[in-house]
Amino acid sequence: MLTFLWKFTVTCCLLNYVNPEDNRDIPAIAKYFNTKGRYEEVNPYLIEDILSVNKSVLQPPSAQCQEIHLTAIIRHGTRYPTTKNIKEMQQIYNIVRHNASGEQRWLREIQTQWTMWYTEDMDGRLVQKGVNDHKHLAVRLSKLFPSLISEEKLRGGFIKFITSSKHRCVNSTLSFKAGLTKLWGITDQEFDHTVNDALMRFFDKCTKFVEEVENNSSALVEVDKFKQGPEMRRVQEKIADRLRVPYSLITDDMAEAAFYLCAYEFAINTVNSPWCRLFDEVDGQVMEYANDLKHYWKRAYGYDINSKSSCILFHDLFSRLDKAANETVIPLTSTNYASQTGRSFRTSYMLPYAANLVLVLYDCGGGDLRLQPLLNEKPVAFPGLTDQKDPMPLYQDVKDHYRELLRGCDFETVCQLFKHTAEV
Ligand SMILES: *[C@@H]1O[C@H](CO)[C@@H](O)[C@H](O)[C@H]1NC(C)=O
Ligand SMILES: *[C@@H]1O[C@H](CO)[C@@H](O)[C@H](O)[C@H]1NC(C)=O
Ligand SMILES: *[C@@H]1O[C@H](CO)[C@@H](O)[C@H](O)[C@H]1NC(C)=O
Ligand SMILES: *[C@@H]1O[C@H](CO)[C@@H](O)[C@H](O)[C@H]1NC(C)=O
Ligand SMILES: *[C@@H]1O[C@H](CO)[C@@H](O)[C@H](O)[C@H]1NC(C)=O
Ligand SMILES: *[C@@H]1O[C@H](CO)[C@@H](O)[C@H](O)[C@H]1NC(C)=O
Repeated sequence: MLTFLWKFTVTCCLLNYVNPEDNRDIPAIAKYFNTKGRYEEVNPYLIEDILSVNKSVLQPPSAQCQEIHLTAIIRHGTRYPTTKNIKEMQQIYNIVRHNASGEQRWLREIQTQWTMWYTEDMDGRLVQKGVNDHKHLAVRLSKLFPSLISEEKLRGGFIKFITSSKHRCVNSTLSFKAGLTKLWGITDQEFDHTVNDALMRFFDKCTKFVEEVENNSSALVEVDKFKQGPEMRRVQEKIADRLRVPYSLITDDMAEAAFYLCAYEFAINTVNSPWCRLFDEVDGQVMEYANDLKHYWKRAYGYDINSKSSCILFHDLFSRLDKAANETVIPLTSTNYASQTGRSFRTSYMLPYAANLVLVLYDCGGGDLRLQPLLNEKPVAFPGLTDQKDPMPLYQDVKDHYRELLRGCDFETVCQLFKHTAEV
Protein backbone atom coordinates (compact mmCIF):
# COMPACT_ATOMS: atom_id res chain seq x y z
CA MET A 1 0.00 0.00 0.00
CA LEU A 2 1.19 3.45 -0.76
CA THR A 3 0.69 6.55 1.25
CA PHE A 4 0.87 10.06 -0.04
CA LEU A 5 1.38 12.87 2.31
CA TRP A 6 0.49 16.49 1.92
CA LYS A 7 1.77 19.04 4.33
CA PHE A 8 1.15 22.67 4.78
CA THR A 9 3.75 24.81 6.38
CA VAL A 10 3.23 28.14 7.88
CA THR A 11 5.95 30.59 7.21
CA CYS A 12 5.09 32.32 4.03
CA CYS A 13 2.88 32.93 1.11
CA LEU A 14 3.79 33.16 -2.50
CA LEU A 15 0.68 31.90 -4.19
CA ASN A 16 -1.97 34.05 -5.71
CA TYR A 17 -4.72 33.83 -8.28
CA VAL A 18 -4.70 36.49 -10.94
CA ASN A 19 -7.45 37.47 -13.22
CA PRO A 20 -5.71 37.66 -16.62
CA GLU A 21 -7.81 40.69 -17.57
CA ASP A 22 -6.41 42.74 -14.72
CA ASN A 23 -2.89 41.61 -15.07
CA ARG A 24 -1.28 44.02 -17.47
CA ASP A 25 -0.52 46.74 -14.97
CA ILE A 26 2.24 45.37 -12.75
CA PRO A 27 4.04 47.68 -10.29
CA ALA A 28 7.64 48.31 -11.34
CA ILE A 29 8.74 47.19 -7.88
CA ALA A 30 6.70 43.97 -7.89
CA LYS A 31 9.80 41.86 -8.30
CA TYR A 32 11.07 43.05 -4.92
CA PHE A 33 8.14 41.87 -2.82
CA ASN A 34 9.96 38.92 -1.22
CA THR A 35 7.51 36.66 0.55
CA LYS A 36 4.64 38.91 -0.35
CA GLY A 37 5.03 38.40 -4.06
CA ARG A 38 2.71 36.58 -6.39
CA TYR A 39 3.22 32.96 -7.33
CA GLU A 40 2.75 34.04 -10.94
CA GLU A 41 5.95 36.06 -10.75
CA VAL A 42 7.74 32.71 -10.43
CA ASN A 43 5.69 30.95 -13.12
CA PRO A 44 4.48 33.67 -15.51
CA TYR A 45 2.79 31.18 -17.87
CA LEU A 46 0.08 30.86 -15.21
CA ILE A 47 -1.02 34.42 -15.98
CA GLU A 48 -2.54 33.17 -19.23
CA ASP A 49 -3.94 29.95 -17.83
CA ILE A 50 -3.90 29.35 -14.10
CA LEU A 51 -4.52 25.62 -14.56
CA SER A 52 -1.84 24.95 -17.15
CA VAL A 53 0.92 22.43 -16.46
CA ASN A 54 3.95 21.49 -18.51
CA LYS A 55 4.33 17.74 -18.20
CA SER A 56 7.46 17.69 -20.32
CA VAL A 57 9.44 19.13 -17.42
CA LEU A 58 9.16 15.69 -15.81
CA GLN A 59 11.72 13.51 -17.47
CA PRO A 60 12.31 10.19 -15.79
CA PRO A 61 15.42 8.44 -17.12
CA SER A 62 13.40 5.66 -18.72
CA ALA A 63 9.87 4.98 -19.84
CA GLN A 64 9.73 2.23 -17.25
CA CYS A 65 9.83 4.68 -14.35
CA GLN A 66 6.61 4.93 -12.39
CA GLU A 67 5.93 7.52 -9.75
CA ILE A 68 5.15 5.65 -6.54
CA HIS A 69 5.07 8.27 -3.83
CA LEU A 70 4.81 11.99 -3.50
CA THR A 71 5.24 14.36 -0.60
CA ALA A 72 4.53 18.04 -0.96
CA ILE A 73 5.34 20.78 1.52
CA ILE A 74 3.22 23.75 0.67
CA ARG A 75 3.05 27.17 2.20
CA HIS A 76 -0.22 28.92 2.86
CA GLY A 77 -1.76 31.08 0.17
CA THR A 78 -2.07 34.84 -0.07
CA ARG A 79 -3.07 36.38 3.22
CA TYR A 80 -4.01 39.66 4.82
CA PRO A 81 -1.38 41.70 6.64
CA THR A 82 -0.91 41.05 10.34
CA THR A 83 -2.41 43.36 12.95
CA LYS A 84 0.97 44.96 13.59
CA ASN A 85 1.40 45.78 9.89
CA ILE A 86 -2.14 47.10 9.63
CA LYS A 87 -1.55 49.52 12.53
CA GLU A 88 1.52 50.86 10.75
CA MET A 89 -0.38 51.13 7.47
CA GLN A 90 -2.98 53.19 9.29
CA GLN A 91 -0.23 55.54 10.49
CA ILE A 92 1.34 56.13 7.09
CA TYR A 93 -2.13 56.59 5.63
CA ASN A 94 -2.84 59.31 8.18
CA ILE A 95 0.43 61.04 7.35
CA VAL A 96 -0.35 60.98 3.63
CA ARG A 97 -3.88 62.23 4.22
CA HIS A 98 -3.17 64.96 6.77
CA ASN A 99 0.42 66.05 6.29
CA ALA A 100 1.34 65.50 2.66
CA SER A 101 0.95 68.15 0.00
CA GLY A 102 1.57 68.26 -3.71
CA GLU A 103 -0.29 67.94 -6.95
CA GLN A 104 0.83 64.54 -8.14
CA ARG A 105 -2.07 62.49 -9.41
CA TRP A 106 -1.16 59.43 -7.37
CA LEU A 107 -1.03 61.53 -4.23
CA ARG A 108 -4.44 63.05 -4.88
CA GLU A 109 -5.70 59.55 -5.56
CA ILE A 110 -4.57 58.25 -2.16
CA GLN A 111 -5.98 61.33 -0.45
CA THR A 112 -9.36 61.45 -2.14
CA GLN A 113 -10.18 58.02 -3.60
CA TRP A 114 -8.27 55.31 -1.79
CA THR A 115 -9.73 54.15 1.49
CA MET A 116 -8.03 52.31 4.29
CA TRP A 117 -9.99 49.09 4.01
CA TYR A 118 -7.64 46.91 6.08
CA THR A 119 -8.95 46.31 9.58
CA GLU A 120 -7.05 44.87 12.50
CA ASP A 121 -9.27 41.81 12.79
CA MET A 122 -7.99 40.62 9.39
CA ASP A 123 -4.81 39.63 11.23
CA GLY A 124 -3.01 37.42 8.73
CA ARG A 125 -6.09 35.47 7.60
CA LEU A 126 -6.18 33.74 4.27
CA VAL A 127 -7.81 35.91 1.60
CA GLN A 128 -10.08 34.64 -1.16
CA LYS A 129 -7.13 34.76 -3.54
CA GLY A 130 -5.28 32.51 -1.12
CA VAL A 131 -8.15 30.04 -1.25
CA ASN A 132 -7.87 30.06 -5.04
CA ASP A 133 -4.09 29.63 -4.87
CA HIS A 134 -4.53 26.28 -3.20
CA LYS A 135 -7.52 25.13 -5.23
CA HIS A 136 -5.62 25.79 -8.43
CA LEU A 137 -2.40 24.25 -7.20
CA ALA A 138 -4.32 21.10 -6.26
CA VAL A 139 -5.73 20.85 -9.76
CA ARG A 140 -2.34 21.44 -11.39
CA LEU A 141 -0.61 18.84 -9.23
CA SER A 142 -3.32 16.30 -10.03
CA LYS A 143 -2.70 16.97 -13.73
CA LEU A 144 1.03 16.62 -13.24
CA PHE A 145 0.76 13.36 -11.22
CA PRO A 146 -2.51 11.76 -12.30
CA SER A 147 -1.64 8.31 -10.96
CA LEU A 148 -0.89 9.59 -7.44
CA ILE A 149 -3.35 12.42 -7.04
CA SER A 150 -6.48 10.81 -8.34
CA GLU A 151 -10.08 10.47 -7.27
CA GLU A 152 -9.50 6.83 -6.49
CA LYS A 153 -6.52 7.53 -4.24
CA LEU A 154 -8.34 10.34 -2.47
CA ARG A 155 -11.45 8.23 -1.90
CA GLY A 156 -9.29 5.35 -0.77
CA GLY A 157 -7.68 7.46 1.94
CA PHE A 158 -4.21 7.31 0.38
CA ILE A 159 -3.78 11.05 0.35
CA LYS A 160 -2.99 12.46 3.77
CA PHE A 161 -3.23 16.09 4.76
CA ILE A 162 -1.25 17.51 7.65
CA THR A 163 -1.36 21.14 8.67
CA SER A 164 -0.21 23.42 11.43
CA SER A 165 -2.88 24.94 13.63
CA LYS A 166 -2.48 28.44 12.16
CA HIS A 167 -5.85 29.48 10.80
CA ARG A 168 -4.41 30.46 7.41
CA CYS A 169 -2.78 27.05 7.11
CA VAL A 170 -5.87 25.12 8.12
CA ASN A 171 -7.87 27.13 5.60
CA SER A 172 -5.23 26.57 2.93
CA THR A 173 -5.56 22.84 3.57
CA LEU A 174 -9.35 23.04 3.32
CA SER A 175 -8.96 24.96 0.07
CA PHE A 176 -6.57 22.41 -1.39
CA LYS A 177 -9.01 19.61 -0.55
CA ALA A 178 -11.88 21.63 -1.98
CA GLY A 179 -9.89 22.00 -5.21
CA LEU A 180 -9.75 18.22 -5.54
CA THR A 181 -13.30 17.42 -4.48
CA LYS A 182 -14.66 20.06 -6.80
CA LEU A 183 -12.50 18.80 -9.66
CA TRP A 184 -13.93 15.31 -9.30
CA GLY A 185 -17.40 16.37 -8.22
CA ILE A 186 -17.16 14.49 -4.94
CA THR A 187 -20.06 15.37 -2.66
CA ASP A 188 -20.71 12.08 -0.86
CA GLN A 189 -17.49 11.84 1.10
CA GLU A 190 -15.39 14.05 3.37
CA PHE A 191 -11.65 13.96 3.86
CA ASP A 192 -9.84 14.55 7.13
CA HIS A 193 -6.74 16.45 7.85
CA THR A 194 -4.59 16.30 10.95
CA VAL A 195 -3.20 19.25 12.84
CA ASN A 196 0.36 18.63 13.92
CA ASP A 197 2.32 21.59 15.24
CA ALA A 198 5.22 19.49 16.46
CA LEU A 199 5.85 18.62 12.83
CA MET A 200 4.71 21.71 10.99
CA ARG A 201 5.79 24.38 13.47
CA PHE A 202 8.93 22.59 14.59
CA PHE A 203 10.67 25.93 15.13
CA ASP A 204 8.18 26.91 17.86
CA LYS A 205 9.02 23.75 19.79
CA CYS A 206 12.73 24.26 19.54
CA THR A 207 13.64 26.05 22.79
CA LYS A 208 17.12 26.95 21.67
CA PHE A 209 15.79 28.55 18.49
CA VAL A 210 13.05 30.45 20.32
CA GLU A 211 15.34 31.81 23.01
CA GLU A 212 18.40 32.51 20.93
CA VAL A 213 16.78 33.76 17.73
CA GLU A 214 13.01 34.13 17.56
CA ASN A 215 12.63 35.85 20.89
CA ASN A 216 15.99 37.59 20.98
CA SER A 217 16.09 41.15 19.75
CA SER A 218 19.90 41.14 19.45
CA ALA A 219 19.71 38.25 16.99
CA LEU A 220 18.66 40.70 14.29
CA VAL A 221 21.36 43.27 14.95
CA GLU A 222 22.44 43.27 11.29
CA VAL A 223 18.88 44.06 10.25
CA ASP A 224 18.69 46.91 12.75
CA LYS A 225 21.99 48.32 11.54
CA PHE A 226 20.85 48.23 7.95
CA LYS A 227 17.59 49.94 8.84
CA GLN A 228 19.58 52.73 10.48
CA GLY A 229 22.09 52.87 7.65
CA PRO A 230 22.52 55.26 4.71
CA GLU A 231 20.65 53.23 2.05
CA MET A 232 17.53 52.92 4.13
CA ARG A 233 17.72 56.52 5.29
CA ARG A 234 17.86 57.64 1.67
CA VAL A 235 14.67 55.69 0.90
CA GLN A 236 12.92 57.39 3.81
CA GLU A 237 14.10 60.82 2.69
CA LYS A 238 12.92 60.24 -0.85
CA ILE A 239 9.48 59.23 0.42
CA ALA A 240 9.35 62.33 2.62
CA ASP A 241 10.37 64.49 -0.37
CA ARG A 242 7.67 62.98 -2.54
CA LEU A 243 5.11 63.70 0.17
CA ARG A 244 6.63 67.07 1.15
CA VAL A 245 6.66 66.18 4.83
CA PRO A 246 9.47 66.56 7.39
CA TYR A 247 12.03 63.73 7.25
CA SER A 248 11.30 62.91 10.88
CA LEU A 249 7.79 61.73 9.97
CA ILE A 250 8.99 58.89 7.74
CA THR A 251 10.58 56.27 9.95
CA ASP A 252 11.81 52.94 8.64
CA ASP A 253 8.56 51.39 9.89
CA MET A 254 6.54 53.93 7.90
CA ALA A 255 8.57 53.18 4.77
CA GLU A 256 7.97 49.48 5.30
CA ALA A 257 4.23 50.02 5.82
CA ALA A 258 3.97 51.96 2.55
CA PHE A 259 5.89 49.22 0.75
CA TYR A 260 3.55 46.61 2.23
CA LEU A 261 0.54 48.62 1.09
CA CYS A 262 1.81 48.47 -2.47
CA ALA A 263 2.56 44.75 -2.13
CA TYR A 264 -0.75 43.76 -0.55
CA GLU A 265 -2.87 45.82 -2.92
CA PHE A 266 -1.20 43.95 -5.75
CA ALA A 267 -1.32 40.48 -4.18
CA ILE A 268 -4.89 40.73 -2.93
CA ASN A 269 -6.58 42.97 -5.48
CA THR A 270 -4.20 42.75 -8.44
CA VAL A 271 -3.99 46.51 -8.66
CA ASN A 272 -1.00 48.73 -9.24
CA SER A 273 -1.89 51.00 -6.37
CA PRO A 274 -0.87 54.67 -6.04
CA TRP A 275 1.11 53.61 -2.95
CA CYS A 276 3.63 52.03 -5.29
CA ARG A 277 4.53 55.49 -6.56
CA LEU A 278 6.27 56.27 -3.29
CA PHE A 279 9.12 54.02 -4.43
CA ASP A 280 11.36 53.83 -7.45
CA GLU A 281 13.22 50.67 -8.39
CA VAL A 282 16.31 51.53 -6.40
CA ASP A 283 14.12 51.98 -3.33
CA GLY A 284 12.46 48.64 -4.07
CA GLN A 285 15.84 46.95 -4.09
CA VAL A 286 16.75 48.44 -0.72
CA MET A 287 13.43 47.34 0.78
CA GLU A 288 13.93 43.88 -0.65
CA TYR A 289 17.39 43.63 0.85
CA ALA A 290 16.15 44.66 4.30
CA ASN A 291 13.63 41.84 4.13
CA ASP A 292 16.11 39.29 2.86
CA LEU A 293 18.44 40.24 5.65
CA LYS A 294 15.70 39.51 8.17
CA HIS A 295 14.93 36.10 6.69
CA TYR A 296 18.61 35.27 6.48
CA TRP A 297 19.15 35.84 10.19
CA LYS A 298 15.79 34.70 11.47
CA ARG A 299 15.10 31.66 9.30
CA ALA A 300 18.09 30.72 7.25
CA TYR A 301 21.86 30.50 7.29
CA GLY A 302 22.46 33.28 9.82
CA TYR A 303 22.34 30.92 12.77
CA ASP A 304 23.08 27.24 12.77
CA ILE A 305 20.07 26.42 14.92
CA ASN A 306 17.69 27.83 12.29
CA SER A 307 18.23 24.92 9.94
CA LYS A 308 18.88 22.35 12.62
CA SER A 309 15.50 23.00 14.19
CA SER A 310 13.85 21.56 11.07
CA CYS A 311 15.33 18.14 11.64
CA ILE A 312 12.03 16.79 12.90
CA LEU A 313 10.36 17.56 9.58
CA PHE A 314 13.34 16.31 7.61
CA HIS A 315 13.23 13.05 9.53
CA ASP A 316 9.57 12.64 8.93
CA LEU A 317 9.96 13.31 5.24
CA PHE A 318 12.63 10.69 4.71
CA SER A 319 10.99 8.10 6.89
CA ARG A 320 7.89 8.37 4.69
CA LEU A 321 9.98 8.08 1.56
CA ASP A 322 11.79 5.12 3.10
CA LYS A 323 8.53 3.48 3.89
CA ALA A 324 7.33 3.87 0.32
CA ALA A 325 10.68 2.66 -0.98
CA ASN A 326 10.60 -0.34 1.35
CA GLU A 327 7.17 -1.33 0.19
CA THR A 328 8.48 -1.55 -3.31
CA VAL A 329 11.83 -3.03 -2.52
CA ILE A 330 10.92 -5.64 0.04
CA PRO A 331 9.25 -8.06 -2.36
CA LEU A 332 12.35 -7.91 -4.58
CA THR A 333 15.00 -8.12 -1.89
CA SER A 334 13.29 -9.89 0.95
CA THR A 335 16.46 -11.69 1.91
CA ASN A 336 18.19 -8.39 2.70
CA TYR A 337 15.73 -7.51 5.36
CA ALA A 338 17.64 -8.77 8.38
CA SER A 339 20.90 -7.10 7.40
CA GLN A 340 19.24 -3.71 7.01
CA THR A 341 17.11 -3.60 10.12
CA GLY A 342 19.88 -2.20 12.27
CA ARG A 343 20.54 0.64 9.89
CA SER A 344 19.49 4.01 11.12
CA PHE A 345 19.17 6.77 8.62
CA ARG A 346 18.08 10.03 10.19
CA THR A 347 18.93 13.43 8.91
CA SER A 348 18.07 17.05 9.15
CA TYR A 349 17.97 19.46 6.32
CA MET A 350 16.72 22.93 5.88
CA LEU A 351 14.03 22.98 3.25
CA PRO A 352 14.41 25.73 0.69
CA TYR A 353 12.40 28.78 1.30
CA ALA A 354 9.69 28.89 -1.36
CA ALA A 355 6.07 28.22 -2.01
CA ASN A 356 5.99 24.50 -2.59
CA LEU A 357 8.44 21.68 -2.56
CA VAL A 358 7.35 18.38 -4.06
CA LEU A 359 9.38 15.21 -3.73
CA VAL A 360 8.43 12.44 -6.12
CA LEU A 361 9.75 8.94 -5.74
CA TYR A 362 10.02 6.94 -8.96
CA ASP A 363 10.39 3.19 -9.30
CA CYS A 364 12.31 2.56 -12.50
CA GLY A 365 12.28 -1.22 -12.11
CA GLY A 366 14.76 -3.67 -10.65
CA GLY A 367 15.25 -1.72 -7.45
CA ASP A 368 16.19 1.46 -9.34
CA LEU A 369 14.53 4.13 -7.22
CA ARG A 370 14.86 7.80 -8.09
CA LEU A 371 13.91 10.95 -6.24
CA GLN A 372 12.89 14.10 -8.09
CA PRO A 373 12.50 17.38 -6.23
CA LEU A 374 10.27 20.05 -7.75
CA LEU A 375 10.36 23.58 -6.50
CA ASN A 376 7.26 25.52 -7.46
CA GLU A 377 6.39 22.86 -10.03
CA LYS A 378 9.80 22.93 -11.68
CA PRO A 379 12.51 20.28 -11.34
CA VAL A 380 15.52 21.32 -9.31
CA ALA A 381 18.70 19.61 -8.13
CA PHE A 382 19.30 18.80 -4.49
CA PRO A 383 21.58 21.54 -3.19
CA GLY A 384 25.07 20.18 -2.91
CA LEU A 385 24.30 16.95 -4.71
CA THR A 386 26.27 18.07 -7.71
CA ASP A 387 26.92 14.79 -9.44
CA GLN A 388 24.05 15.37 -11.82
CA LYS A 389 24.83 13.38 -14.94
CA ASP A 390 21.36 12.14 -14.36
CA PRO A 391 18.81 14.87 -13.77
CA MET A 392 16.93 12.53 -11.48
CA PRO A 393 19.25 11.14 -8.80
CA LEU A 394 19.08 7.69 -7.29
CA TYR A 395 17.17 7.70 -4.04
CA GLN A 396 20.07 5.96 -2.35
CA ASP A 397 22.49 8.68 -3.49
CA VAL A 398 20.27 11.35 -1.99
CA LYS A 399 20.15 9.47 1.28
CA ASP A 400 23.89 8.92 1.31
CA HIS A 401 24.50 12.55 0.58
CA TYR A 402 22.44 13.80 3.49
CA ARG A 403 23.49 11.04 5.83
CA GLU A 404 27.06 12.29 5.71
CA LEU A 405 26.07 15.91 5.90
CA LEU A 406 23.68 15.66 8.79
CA ARG A 407 24.48 12.51 10.69
CA GLY A 408 23.20 12.40 14.20
CA CYS A 409 20.45 14.97 13.98
CA ASP A 410 18.43 14.71 17.12
CA PHE A 411 15.73 17.26 17.78
CA GLU A 412 15.99 16.98 21.55
CA THR A 413 19.73 17.50 21.60
CA VAL A 414 19.79 20.15 18.93
CA CYS A 415 17.05 22.21 20.50
CA GLN A 416 17.87 22.01 24.17
CA LEU A 417 19.31 25.21 25.47
CA PHE A 418 22.27 23.99 27.46
CA LYS A 419 24.43 21.05 26.57
CA HIS A 420 24.74 18.99 29.72
CA THR A 421 27.96 17.16 30.19
CA ALA A 422 27.65 13.50 30.94
CA GLU A 423 27.21 12.75 34.59
CA VAL A 424 29.88 10.78 36.26
C1 LIG B 1 7.70 22.86 -21.30
O1 LIG B 1 8.93 22.50 -20.75
C2 LIG B 1 9.92 22.17 -21.70
C3 LIG B 1 11.13 21.59 -20.98
O2 LIG B 1 11.52 22.45 -19.94
C4 LIG B 1 10.22 23.41 -22.51
O3 LIG B 1 11.19 23.12 -23.49
C5 LIG B 1 8.96 23.88 -23.18
O4 LIG B 1 9.17 25.09 -23.85
C6 LIG B 1 7.84 24.08 -22.16
N1 LIG B 1 6.60 24.32 -22.85
C7 LIG B 1 5.82 25.34 -22.55
C8 LIG B 1 4.56 25.45 -23.32
O5 LIG B 1 6.11 26.15 -21.68
C1 LIG C 1 0.46 66.08 10.74
O1 LIG C 1 -0.93 66.28 10.70
C2 LIG C 1 -1.55 66.18 11.99
C3 LIG C 1 -3.06 66.23 11.80
O2 LIG C 1 -3.40 67.32 10.99
C4 LIG C 1 -1.02 67.26 12.88
O3 LIG C 1 -1.62 67.18 14.16
C5 LIG C 1 0.48 67.16 12.98
O4 LIG C 1 1.00 68.21 13.72
C6 LIG C 1 1.11 67.12 11.60
N1 LIG C 1 2.53 66.83 11.76
C7 LIG C 1 3.47 67.56 11.15
C8 LIG C 1 4.89 67.20 11.46
O5 LIG C 1 3.21 68.44 10.37
C1 LIG D 1 -11.47 29.83 7.48
O1 LIG D 1 -12.61 29.39 6.85
C2 LIG D 1 -13.77 29.50 7.66
C3 LIG D 1 -14.93 28.91 6.90
O2 LIG D 1 -14.52 28.19 5.82
C4 LIG D 1 -14.06 30.92 7.99
O3 LIG D 1 -15.19 31.00 8.81
C5 LIG D 1 -12.88 31.48 8.69
O4 LIG D 1 -13.07 32.83 8.92
C6 LIG D 1 -11.63 31.27 7.86
N1 LIG D 1 -10.53 31.68 8.63
C7 LIG D 1 -9.58 32.39 8.13
C8 LIG D 1 -8.49 32.70 9.07
O5 LIG D 1 -9.54 32.76 6.97
C1 LIG E 1 20.85 36.78 21.41
O1 LIG E 1 21.59 36.89 20.22
C2 LIG E 1 22.89 37.37 20.40
C3 LIG E 1 23.50 37.52 19.01
O2 LIG E 1 23.52 36.30 18.33
C4 LIG E 1 23.68 36.40 21.28
O3 LIG E 1 24.99 36.90 21.49
C5 LIG E 1 22.97 36.21 22.60
O4 LIG E 1 23.61 35.23 23.34
C6 LIG E 1 21.52 35.81 22.35
N1 LIG E 1 20.80 35.79 23.61
C7 LIG E 1 20.26 34.68 24.09
C8 LIG E 1 19.46 34.82 25.33
O5 LIG E 1 20.39 33.60 23.54
C1 LIG F 1 9.86 35.85 24.93
O1 LIG F 1 10.30 36.99 25.63
C2 LIG F 1 9.32 37.62 26.43
C3 LIG F 1 9.93 38.82 27.12
O2 LIG F 1 10.71 39.56 26.22
C4 LIG F 1 8.80 36.64 27.46
O3 LIG F 1 7.74 37.22 28.19
C5 LIG F 1 8.31 35.37 26.78
O4 LIG F 1 7.95 34.42 27.74
C6 LIG F 1 9.39 34.79 25.90
N1 LIG F 1 8.86 33.65 25.20
C7 LIG F 1 9.49 32.51 25.11
C8 LIG F 1 8.80 31.42 24.41
O5 LIG F 1 10.59 32.35 25.58
C1 LIG G 1 12.87 0.20 5.60
O1 LIG G 1 13.45 -1.09 5.62
C2 LIG G 1 14.63 -1.17 6.37
C3 LIG G 1 15.11 -2.59 6.26
O2 LIG G 1 15.11 -2.98 4.94
C4 LIG G 1 14.36 -0.82 7.82
O3 LIG G 1 15.56 -0.80 8.53
C5 LIG G 1 13.75 0.56 7.90
O4 LIG G 1 13.39 0.82 9.23
C6 LIG G 1 12.53 0.61 7.02
N1 LIG G 1 12.04 1.95 7.05
C7 LIG G 1 10.77 2.23 7.19
C8 LIG G 1 10.43 3.68 7.25
O5 LIG G 1 9.91 1.40 7.23
